[in-house]
Amino acid sequence: MRERTQYPEWLQAYRHVYRIEMNLGKRLESVYALVPEGAVLVDVGSDHGYLPAKLVKDGKIKRSAVTDINVGPLESAKKTAIRFEVFEKMTFFLADGLDGVDYDYDTVTICGMGGILIADIIARAERCRECTLILQPMRHQEYLRKYLWDNGYMIEKEVYSVEHGKPYVVLVTRYTGEKIEYSEEDTYIGFERDTNEDRKQYNEKLVRSLRKKLLGVGEKEKEILETVCERLSRI
Ligand SMILES: C[S@@+](CC[C@H](N)C(=O)[O-])C[C@H]1O[C@@H](n2cnc3c(N)ncnc32)[C@H](O)[C@@H]1O
Repeated sequence: MRERTQYPEWLQAYRHVYRIEMNLGKRLESVYALVPEGAVLVDVGSDHGYLPAKLVKDGKIKRSAVTDINVGPLESAKKTAIRFEVFEKMTFFLADGLDGVDYDYDTVTICGMGGILIADIIARAERCRECTLILQPMRHQEYLRKYLWDNGYMIEKEVYSVEHGKPYVVLVTRYTGEKIEYSEEDTYIGFERDTNEDRKQYNEKLVRSLRKKLLGVGEKEKEILETVCERLSRI
């Protein structure tokens, strides 16, 4: 359901009460850096709405829509927009993913959700094929990479970070319609071979969590995960 972009009177008060700097943290900072200049964005599952509000506030993008499936987070995003005086440049949708989002966007961010849910949101939105997608899965990254590669999306870039001891990856992807050859191991590792300190730390954390997973899986998956750990340790 679309919500009109106008300043509700009952929220006017917030405008001057909250004037604080917004610190996105390392995870969302890396998403921020990857959003193209001048984009028209939809941030799906925005919750607090910090990312789109900061992008608009800084003038990096023209305007943004925000979606959330829950009322509470959507209200929280509206308050953020008011705090940062960007309410007029933002539109709010109570929506499941991009369902019914009537907005002329060219870029989509989907962050802080599982890879299976992210893939499902993309699968239901044809328009994603015309957009730059910036995706930050919290888990099941291998499922998401597989979905993208099987459905003609090229992963152009991957960026890794560690925040509060947790490893995060951000994927930048566009639809090209081409299919690529990949192995099961590639779905865990990706094709990015950039070896900076963040990637090293990310790999160490990932190897640690995959080794834990090894204990509870069958022989075939165990073999794949062992190869993944071995390859990750060499990157
Ligand atoms: C963990 S928060 C992530 C917030 C923000 N994107 C970030 O990365 O910090 C996940 C948000 O996604 C929303 N959400 C979950 N499933 C959704 C769906 N299918 N469509 C839209 N929003 C969804 C939740 O209500 C919640 O506000």
